[in-house]
Amino acid sequence: MNESKKLYIETVGCQMNMLDSELVVASLRKEGYELVGTPKEADTILFNTCSVRQHAEDKIYSALGRLKNAKANHPGKIIGVLGCMAQKDQELIFKRAPYVDLIVGPGQLHQLPTLLAGIAQGSGRRMEVSLERTAGSRHEVATSFESYDPLRDPAMRPSPYQAFVRIMIGCDKFCTYCIVPSVRGPEQSRSPAEIEAEVRHLAAEGCREVTLLGQTVNSYKFVENGKQVRLADLLYRLEAIPGLARVRFVTNFPKDMTQDLLNAVRDLPKAMPYLHVPAQSASNAVLKRMKRLYTIEEYREMHQRIKETIPGVAVTSDFIVGFCGETEPDFEATCELVRELHFKNSFIFKYSPRLGTKAQDHFPDDIPEDVKKRRNNELLAIQNSISENDNQPFVGTRQQILVEGPSKTALKHGEDGPLLQLTGRTPCDRIVVFDGHRRQIGELLSVDIDDANAFTLFGSVVTDHAGPEVFQLAGMGGRG
Ligand code: SAH
Ligand code: SF4
Ligand code: F3S
Repeated sequence: MNESKKLYIETVGCQMNMLDSELVVASLRKEGYELVGTPKEADTILFNTCSVRQHAEDKIYSALGRLKNAKANHPGKIIGVLGCMAQKDQELIFKRAPYVDLIVGPGQLHQLPTLLAGIAQGSGRRMEVSLERTAGSRHEVATSFESYDPLRDPAMRPSPYQAFVRIMIGCDKFCTYCIVPSVRGPEQSRSPAEIEAEVRHLAAEGCREVTLLGQTVNSYKFVENGKQVRLADLLYRLEAIPGLARVRFVTNFPKDMTQDLLNAVRDLPKAMPYLHVPAQSASNAVLKRMKRLYTIEEYREMHQRIKETIPGVAVTSDFIVGFCGETEPDFEATCELVRELHFKNSFIFKYSPRLGTKAQDHFPDDIPEDVKKRRNNELLAIQNSISENDNQPFVGTRQQILVEGPSKTALKHGEDGPLLQLTGRTPCDRIVVFDGHRRQIGELLSVDIDDANAFTLFGSVVTDHAGPEVFQLAGMGGRG
């Protein structure tokens, strides 16, 4: 019987997982659990896992491996594996780590307090996962993935001023390389009324910025009173919420980047001019094998529309290098795209075959690891040189920032007085460091940018409140 309730949780993966872990911890705190910083101190050890690449899985299996002795010495410790790898590997986790007590898929997280209580009372090990995508009708499979959106607890967020808000779960795109549609289930949008209520609640508690989450967030659609509500409509509804200052949303699917959404981002002051729209590759042959549903010409056209519609917008992307059959000219095309479109940032991944995906079934993983590595480094170097020059045009401009907290330097030096170095973000998500006052954390401030390096803008707070606020455009112009 497990009397004390000390919880350790380790999270890997995307923002969806970060939100799930925040909600899991909040729900367990209600049951009397207390969060601790190491597995050693904990009675309950949870891993919220990711299956998107092999590396993410290896990390968790080796962490589990390290717990073997701890469990042998302290049989009362409960070890649980949650999230995407729980859904993907299921029984295999018990086989590889027989001392695991609990396996819970992303669609069953609401059951966690009950499952843990059961195990503590001797129920024996448990596994709760959703149906596989072919295991029943769409409706049956969809209902087996329950969206996990309990009431929020502001104390559990990394910042009281920022929050993730789920607007949809699952994915129906089935890119051939990707495990997400099978581990997160069918695409299901949350009701706009529920989302709005959650954001109102967050704003009333002092949250200034929300990031709306969905695997393909701009595919959001929900029929309410016979009318279809899309992401653009949702942005209009959130705009009206008092106290809320900023709305972001990730991740966008290129084909669903409709003009009405771009117009909404242009017209709504709270919708931030920052769009993450992964291209994955610039070769049509590769895009076709990936089943991305667009050509690179269409991606370019969409990118052009974004730039024309939203002044000063920042666009970021993801790329996979070394996908099955990627030739040197295919890769060169991707390098060219990155140089040409000037992404604010790109996340670059080496292709990792995933069991059960179309790519794994149909195309050999024929690009050697050293070639993948070289392509990864080359593309990264191109993107880094772009990012480095990108901050310079901001020097001499005035930006509105949301102050997030003490800067890394202030934290390192343990600055605890009222005056300290702070960090905040511009609308297009650039980091600004400046000297400020502790009470400014969570506020929107005007800052004059005096200097910049590759990663950071340096500014000083504008103290003259005499004139009207004018926010200046950097480079091509925009809201920064
Ligand atoms: N839903 C988002 C993100 C999915 S996962 C989207 O559609 O963009 C985040 C990124 O991981 C993807 O954009 C892709 O670049 C990368 N990724 C997904 N599966 C992968 C795999 N099997 N190997 C390597 N990278 C992968
Ligand atoms: Fe994966 Fe493609 Fe869905 Fe993104 S859109 S989650 S890459 S299947
Ligand atoms: Fe990973 Fe699952 Fe997110 S597979 S990327 S944690 S949806």
